[in-house]
Amino acid sequence: MSVDNILNRLSELKVRALQSLNGIDDTEALDSWRVDYLGRRGELTQILRGLSDLDNDDRRHVGSLANNIKSELEQSLSDHQQSLKDRELAGRTQFDVTLPGRSIDMGRLHPTTQIVREICDAFVSMGFQIAEGPEVEWDRYNFEMLNIPKDHPARDMWDTLWVDYKDNNGDTPMLLRTHTSPMQIRIMEDSEPPIRVIVPGKCYRYEATDATHEWHFYQVEGLAVGEGITFADMKGTLFEFARIMFGSDRKVRFRVDYFPFVEPGAEMAIDCFVCKGSGCRVCKNSGWIEIMGAGMVNPKVLEGVGYDSSKYTGFAFGMGPERIAMLKYGIDDIRLFYSNDMRFLRQF
Ligand code: PHE
Repeated sequence: MSVDNILNRLSELKVRALQSLNGIDDTEALDSWRVDYLGRRGELTQILRGLSDLDNDDRRHVGSLANNIKSELEQSLSDHQQSLKDRELAGRTQFDVTLPGRSIDMGRLHPTTQIVREICDAFVSMGFQIAEGPEVEWDRYNFEMLNIPKDHPARDMWDTLWVDYKDNNGDTPMLLRTHTSPMQIRIMEDSEPPIRVIVPGKCYRYEATDATHEWHFYQVEGLAVGEGITFADMKGTLFEFARIMFGSDRKVRFRVDYFPFVEPGAEMAIDCFVCKGSGCRVCKNSGWIEIMGAGMVNPKVLEGVGYDSSKYTGFAFGMGPERIAMLKYGIDDIRLFYSNDMRFLRQF
């Protein structure tokens, strides 16, 4: 083959290779292009093989030209590869507006928080204010000023977690409050009647846990003090609360109960809102569900904070929101509230 002939073939090959490269838009076709033009059995290699027939000068001349073409084609190949890749990436960032959106996992309020708020709202609608107080409390407020002196057997009602702290000012021992009732004292010490307040908050008891007992739980306390407040006011207020929380056709029942800081003391029950009183699992076949302790503030407690008990009377009550949530939602184990199991919490 003559030199001219080879040179012609080379330049024709270059033009053809570049043209066909331009039309390629997928990587598979690009690969077979590489095999066709630059591969070991490709056209260029074949032409180069034919160079052995030429004399030295011609071979050098044609060889260097062929190598230039080869590197030019290799460069074009890698440019083209890059532009295909760029195009593919650009395509991926375009989004399909018809795809369904990804759902966002929303936070939610803990069931206890929801019930506490519901309880508070019910009393706020009757003119009560909301107050909160310390969870680490003095014996004086948790017990003594609530008419539960040291060594009084009634202390057995509240198994206590004591805090190992000695106070230099001769104050009483420290504990984790076993109920929210100490806030009755704190509020009365800080203000004058009339008082209408509710106190939501955490309480602690030194207690083995089971389906109905937790060592840590919430209470909502209530206190109303003023002139001429009677047991009937208490009944009316708590009856209204039961209707707001559990439905307008509720009946309520008060039975005598004992708490040292109230006299007389009562336990309030509502007729079962599930079976309407005929007996079921929720009310343990009694038709009634106990929902709180209550009573008229003991005159000794009023005197203890410096109130004139011949002028002022009042009532107090305390309830467990987890218990109320259990009744409302049919939850059968109080430990579910604080075991952080999302399968439980997601249901509220
Ligand atoms: N503090 C009482 C308890 O924890 C409940 C209660 C509050 C009873 C107020 C009467 C009046 O059991």
